[in-house]
Amino acid sequence: MEQRAFDVVTGAFSFTGRFIARRLAVLERPIKTLTNHPQRAGAQEIQQDIKAQVAPLQFTDRPALVESLRGADVLYNTYWVRFRHGRVRFGDAVANTRILLGAARDAGVRKVVHISVSNPAEESRLDYYAGKARAERAVRESGLAWAIIRPTLIFGQGDILINNIAWLLRRLPAFGIPGRGDYRLQPVAGEDVAEIATWAAEQVDSVTVDAAGPDIIYYSEMVESIAIAVGRHPRFVYLSPKNTIRASRVIGRFMKDVMLNEPELEGLMQELLVSRERPRGTRRLDNWLLTNADSVGKTYASELDRHWR
Ligand SMILES: NC(=O)c1ccc[n+]([C@@H]2O[C@H](COP(=O)([O-])OP(=O)(O)OC[C@H]3O[C@@H](n4cnc5c(N)ncnc54)[C@H](OP(=O)(O)O)[C@@H]3O)[C@@H](O)[C@H]2O)c1
Repeated sequence: MEQRAFDVVTGAFSFTGRFIARRLAVLERPIKTLTNHPQRAGAQEIQQDIKAQVAPLQFTDRPALVESLRGADVLYNTYWVRFRHGRVRFGDAVANTRILLGAARDAGVRKVVHISVSNPAEESRLDYYAGKARAERAVRESGLAWAIIRPTLIFGQGDILINNIAWLLRRLPAFGIPGRGDYRLQPVAGEDVAEIATWAAEQVDSVTVDAAGPDIIYYSEMVESIAIAVGRHPRFVYLSPKNTIRASRVIGRFMKDVMLNEPELEGLMQELLVSRERPRGTRRLDNWLLTNADSVGKTYASELDRHWR
C-alpha cells in the first residue's frame, strides 16, 4: 500500500500533541503540526527532535486549512478549549472541530484520530463533557475513517493540574483538599495516550477506546504522592467544594489564571476521570513523580498564558 508522506498533529508544542509528535518521530513518521503557538517554550527543542513542518490552526480561513492538511495520512486532533472564557464557549470549540474535520475530508486525509475525554455524555450538565460528546458525534459523522481516544487525567511533562498541585504544596503551609478527597481518578501517562493513539490509527475498524493508566487512586492519595515527591508536607485542610472554588479564585487572581473551576471540580468529584474499561496504559504516576521530583511544580503552569493571551 502506498505510504503517504506525513501525519498532522494539532498542538505538537503544547501538551498531549507533544507526546503524539514524539511517538510519531519514534515511528519515523514525518509530521506537520497545526498550532497558533510555534514559538512556545520548548518548541525549538521539539523541532530538533521531530522536524515538524508548522502551519497555523486557523478556523476562519478554511481554504488555507484544507491546504495545510492536503497530502496528510492521519490527522491527530487534540484541539479543544479547557473552559468557557471571554466570548469562547464549548459550542465554538465544537463548531471549530467540525470545520477542522470538514477541511480534513476535503483535503483527502485518510483518518482522524480524535482525542476526547473519559465519560463524555451529550446529556451531561457539565458543558465540557457534553461538548466533548458532541465533538465525538461530529467525528463519527465526518465521512472520514476515525478513531476516538478518551483519556482520563493525563500526566507528564507540561501538564497543568498535577504541576500546579505540586507548585502549591511547595509553597503553602496548608493545602486545601476538596470535600473528603475520597473520589477516585485514574491518571494516564502522556506517552501511553500517544501509543494508544498511534495504535488506533492503524486499526481497520473505527474504534472508541479509553486511555487510562494502571492505577485507580483517591484524589487525596494523589496529593499525598505529589507531596512525597516534592518533599513537602503541608497540613491538609478539607474544604467544601464552594470554598475550594473560592480559594482557587483567590490564587487564580493572584496568578492571573483560572486555576480550577466549578465544572472541572464537579467532574473530578463525580469520578469522570475513571475508566470503566481495562486499562490500556502501563506507566504509573508514582514512578513519574519520583523521576520528576526536582522539576514538577517548580514553576506555575498557566492555562491563560498558554492559550488565551
Ligand atoms: N490534559 C488532560 O489531562 C486531558 C485529559 C483528558 C482529555 N484531554 C483532552 O486532550 C486534548 C488535548 O488536551 P491538552 O490538555 O493536551 O491541551 P493542549 O495541548 O493545551 O491544547 C491542545 C490543542 O488545542 C489548542 N487550544 C487549546 N486551548 C485553546 C484555546 N483557548 N483557543 C484556541 N486553541 C486552543 C492548542 O493550540 P496551540 O497549539 O496553539 O497551543 C492545541 O493545538 C483535549 O481534547 C482535551 O480535552 C486532556
